[in-house]
Amino acid sequence: MFVINTKKDSMFGERDASCAAENIMLAATDLGLGSVYVMGGAVRLNDAGELQKELGIDPAFQTSVIVPVGKIAEKTEETDRSNRYQVTIY
Ligand SMILES: Cc1cc2nc3c(=O)[nH]c(=O)nc-3n(C[C@H](O)[C@H](O)[C@H](O)COP(=O)(O)O)c2cc1C
Repeated sequence: MFVINTKKDSMFGERDASCAAENIMLAATDLGLGSVYVMGGAVRLNDAGELQKELGIDPAFQTSVIVPVGKIAEKTEETDRSNRYQVTIY
């Protein structure tokens, strides 16, 4: 499990963490592993001071994204998701 922490005073911390998460997820996929971008757990962890301490998270940092990686339990069908986003290429 990857817990991606960024400086609390960083203006772009969440974006940086998202890019790191994406790289982890791409590498995991390449290795045939599953992964998920978890924001809910990150928000909860930031409210759990004792747990943060136990995990060795520097008080100047906060958790932006958690990425659990593991063996895929169930293979889902691949679908066309291209209509979900709009990317304009010039
Ligand atoms: C910003 C963001 C936050 C997310 N937070 C969570 C989360 O807290 N828990 C979770 O199980 N999945 C979380 N996900 C993963 C989504 O639930 C979903 O699995 C992923 O976006 C793929 O969606 P799709 O399977 O519909 O394409 C998050 C995804 C994004 C982009």
